[in-house]
Amino acid sequence: MQKHLKIDTSQKVTPLGDLYGIFFEDLNHAADGGLYAELVQNRSFEFDPIDNKAYHGLTAWEKLEKKGAKVTLEVEDKAPINSRNPHYLTVTAKAIGDGAGFMNLGFNTGIPLEKAKIYQFSCYSKTETAVEKPVVIKLTGAEGQVLAEGSLQPENNGWRKYECTLTATATDYSGRLVIEMQETGKYYFDMISLFPADVYKGRKNGLRADIAELLADCKPKFMRFPGGCLVHDGSLDSEDRDSLYRWKNTLGPVEERPSRRNNWGYNQTLGLGYFEYFQFCEDIGAKPLPVLPGGYDPHHQRMVPIEELGPWIQEALDLIEFANGDKETEWGKIRAELGHEEPFHLEYLGIGNEEIGEPFFERYTYFHKAIREKYPDIKLINSSGPFAAGKEYERGWTSARENGSDLVDEHYYQSPEWFLANYHRYDTFKAEDPKVFLGEYASWGNTYYNALAEAAFMTGLEKNAHAVGLACYAPLLCNTDYVNWRPDMIWFNNHEVFGTANYYVQKLFMTNQGDYLLKTTGENFAESVTAEENRPLSGKLIISAAVNTEVNCREIIFEDMTTGEIKKAQGAALKEGEQLELFDTKLSHYRLKFIGEKKSGTRGFEISFGYENRENRAIWELGGWQNQDCLVSSMVKGRGSCLTQSFFVVENNREYQLELEVKGRKIKTYIDGVLMNETEDKLPILKELYYTASVDNNGDYIVKMVNVKENPITFTLTLEGQEKTDLRGSRYMMSGYGLDDMNSFEEPKKISPVQEAVVLSNGTGEITLPGHSIVVLRLSKDDR
Ligand code: AHR
Repeated sequence: MQKHLKIDTSQKVTPLGDLYGIFFEDLNHAADGGLYAELVQNRSFEFDPIDNKAYHGLTAWEKLEKKGAKVTLEVEDKAPINSRNPHYLTVTAKAIGDGAGFMNLGFNTGIPLEKAKIYQFSCYSKTETAVEKPVVIKLTGAEGQVLAEGSLQPENNGWRKYECTLTATATDYSGRLVIEMQETGKYYFDMISLFPADVYKGRKNGLRADIAELLADCKPKFMRFPGGCLVHDGSLDSEDRDSLYRWKNTLGPVEERPSRRNNWGYNQTLGLGYFEYFQFCEDIGAKPLPVLPGGYDPHHQRMVPIEELGPWIQEALDLIEFANGDKETEWGKIRAELGHEEPFHLEYLGIGNEEIGEPFFERYTYFHKAIREKYPDIKLINSSGPFAAGKEYERGWTSARENGSDLVDEHYYQSPEWFLANYHRYDTFKAEDPKVFLGEYASWGNTYYNALAEAAFMTGLEKNAHAVGLACYAPLLCNTDYVNWRPDMIWFNNHEVFGTANYYVQKLFMTNQGDYLLKTTGENFAESVTAEENRPLSGKLIISAAVNTEVNCREIIFEDMTTGEIKKAQGAALKEGEQLELFDTKLSHYRLKFIGEKKSGTRGFEISFGYENRENRAIWELGGWQNQDCLVSSMVKGRGSCLTQSFFVVENNREYQLELEVKGRKIKTYIDGVLMNETEDKLPILKELYYTASVDNNGDYIVKMVNVKENPITFTLTLEGQEKTDLRGSRYMMSGYGLDDMNSFEEPKKISPVQEAVVLSNGTGEITLPGHSIVVLRLSKDDR
């Protein structure tokens, strides 16, 4: 029977709204040393061990003492340029010799300099006593060869800002910014900055053009910012060096923005701040989606007392006024003074990042009520924790329903197999519930296989646009020399950037989103086929102690749940790295029971079951990261997927009755008789064809199709209602790659769509999708 994909062009099923966007998260040096174009690292001498144990005030700076020179560098704080920027550099040039001064090493291999490109230098400086000879500013290559030179004449009557423009005479990606004295004396410097003149859209305090352009090319409907964990991990006092991310700290002249610890182990200058984020959103046509802390740090259990929440809620209201208020309002005026009289048209606001725990949800309600009352049109986003299912996830959804949140932020990082197995995840979500904001998701990896699985999953998001409002892949950016997290969508060093296979899928879906979903029917496609037989979770059972932890287990009982037969095993005391191998079972319905006790350490137990090897197993984890989880995960080829999670703290020297029941692929866990987890480790289902279709407001028809299988598939495609029309347009195809293939600096577009012209005569035609391919057709009635 002929396979037929029919798209009913007369039925606009669901508006697709702002479905696909991006998430800018400041980790992996995505801001400083990344999108933010500043080339000097530690420009204001504020680096501190609070940011990173290896940091100090002179991180990334070195002294220059050529033959006969004598120089000392000290970071001081007695007379700063302002109180928010407390440290500065004191340079004592005791002898000049062949060259006396200091230099900045930049990020990565150094300061990237390109022949004929212009660089904007600026700094604050002064001297203790008058000097006659100017200070020389040089851009040099790695070997010290001078590629550009300028000068400044500091004075001894207080801090002053100096600027000069430098043009590089050669290319060197390991350059240095060198500042040389020509006369002995005491010199002071602060906010030493170097920007390429060529920044994105020529903005002041601007963004690196090559990275910004890759983002702009996606035409995202929205941009979530600035994180991630950095939003809610930190001190509650906005004046503290390690404070939570507080937006008001990020406004105004860069020299007045305080330095902050980024919880990913580095320093944030806040040079890329809220004004710049809003401006960038506007520049790329993305709706801004800021996320504010909810007065709670789930990583350290810090919380603002309810009666002191007022200023935090006011901060959220002020942000809305900053973005949308007219220039007569207090915060609208500040925006206008910063150079943007027109509002930024804020529509979405997130409170909290992947929150776990009652204290957050207690506080969310106060934020929600106050914002709703004053700004009823703002779409408020609640949070459902870092996992795809479980009690904490449900708690987020319950809170969203009770409060009437517009959206719920879901986060999950899983194996590609999980994404294929969960293609139907949102089929049962209800249109009348808050909408899903899939604020962070990715399959573990940047191979073509990952991108293929994500593309298939995304057709599932799109066909469920009644329930899924917004979705963005995460993380977005990664500097190859400062990796906190992988995979990432875009990789860069100090002068090159490339999009991964995942990037090209995201871009393909974003640039071809469509405005309305069309009714689409597949006829005679094979029923979904399971990738493997529906095999039970049998295999070895192993108890082990988690990292840094010592546990005891005893009274171990294994029960065949079909026959009632019982086996016993000897208990053991286990340290990190030790494991107790118990049974190797072929049963499909069994129960393991034991008494477990944590003796010491920071985490708890790991119980592996369905164990084939370390890379392929299921795990019941008690304690987990931060000792706050009881979760079940599934590991496929070394890539884990958390199937469900509940909040649980394992106490020291307390006995727990632990029980695991497995039936087929269904799993239940109990602690002291209380059901903690209930889940199913679903096997991937491979559909013969994943598809979705939409129409945009210009009348373009968009058909997305994904073949995750090895063999090609041929079928007829008909756009019903267009039988008398020749539809013309483009076919974008990703195919012909190995599943393990990846893009790289050397081959940045190895995996990227190939565009070809297509004609669908009389609205119909035969389509062949090669094995492992992603195809998007964009068709219009005229020859646009
Ligand atoms: O994207 C990496 C991290 O994953 C984010 O900071 C956090 O929100 C999630 O746990």
